Amino acid sequence: MIIVLLGPPGAGKGTQADRLSARLGIPKIATGDVLRAAVKQGTRGGLDAKAYMDRGDLVPDSVILGILQEVMTSPSAAKGAILDGAVRTVPQAEGVGIMLAEIGRKVDKVLLFDVDDNELVKRLSGRTVCEGCQTPYMGREAGTRCEKCGGTLVRRKDDEPEAVRNRLQVYRRQTEPVIQWYKDHKMKVNKIDADGPVDTVTARALEALEHPDGKQ
Ligand code: AP5
Repeated sequence: MIIVLLGPPGAGKGTQADRLSARLGIPKIATGDVLRAAVKQGTRGGLDAKAYMDRGDLVPDSVILGILQEVMTSPSAAKGAILDGAVRTVPQAEGVGIMLAEIGRKVDKVLLFDVDDNELVKRLSGRTVCEGCQTPYMGREAGTRCEKCGGTLVRRKDDEPEAVRNRLQVYRRQTEPVIQWYKDHKMKVNKIDADGPVDTVTARALEALEHPDGKQ
C-alpha cells in the first residue's frame, strides 16, 4: 500500500508515520529526513537544499522527485511505503503519479492531518529532534539523549518563529492545493483530527486506512 501523508508543519506526520510504519510493516519515506541527512553529510545536494530548508521554503520539485524516484523503485519499497511530507506541490503530486504508473503502482490512500495553527506553533516551539535518527520529542531539552538511538537532541533551525511563520504560509500557498488535486483525481482525502493524544491519532489514522473504499 502506498500512503501519502499531508498536513501542515507540526501536525504530527513524522510521529504518526513511524507508528504506521511499525504497524503496517512498510517503510516511511520522509523527504525532510532525507534532506537533513544530506545536509549533515555535506553532500552537494544537501548544501543546495540547506538554504531553502532553514528559511522554511520548499526545496525545488526536481530535487524531491529525484529522491522519490530512487527510493520508490528500490526493493525496500516493494511492499509499499508511507510518504511523509513527500508530496507538497501539485507538480510533485503529478510527478509521483507518473513515476508510480511507470512501475505499475499508484497512491492507495491519502491522509490529511488536521491541527489548528495555535497548536502547531506550540508544538514546533517545544520540539527537539534526535540529530541521529530524527525522532521528534516534546518537553525534552536540547543536549539530552534520544531514547531510541542515544543520539543528541537538537532544536531544528526551521522551528525558530520566523521560519515557522513562513512554513505555515508556504503550506497554505503551495501544499493545500495538493488536497484539491487528489480530490480532482478521484482520490478520497481522509481528514484526520490530529489534535489529541498520539495513540488516539494513530487509531484514527488506522481506522481511515482500513476503510475499504479509497475512492471518492
Ligand atoms: P519536514 O521535516 O518534513 O518538516 P514539516 O513538514 O514542516 O513537518 P515537521 O517535521 O515540522 O512536522 P510533522 O508534521 O512531521 O510533526 P512531528 O511528528 O515532528 O520538512 C522540512 C523541510 O524540508 C521543508 O520545510 C522543506 O524545506 C524541505 N522539504 C521536505 N519535503 C519536501 C518536499 N516534498 N518538497 C519540497 N521541500 C521539502 O510533530 C511535531 C511535534 O509535535 C513533535 O515535537 C511531536 O513530538 C509533537 N506531537 C506529535 N503528535 C502530537 C500530538 N498528537 N499531541 C501533541 N504533540 C504531538
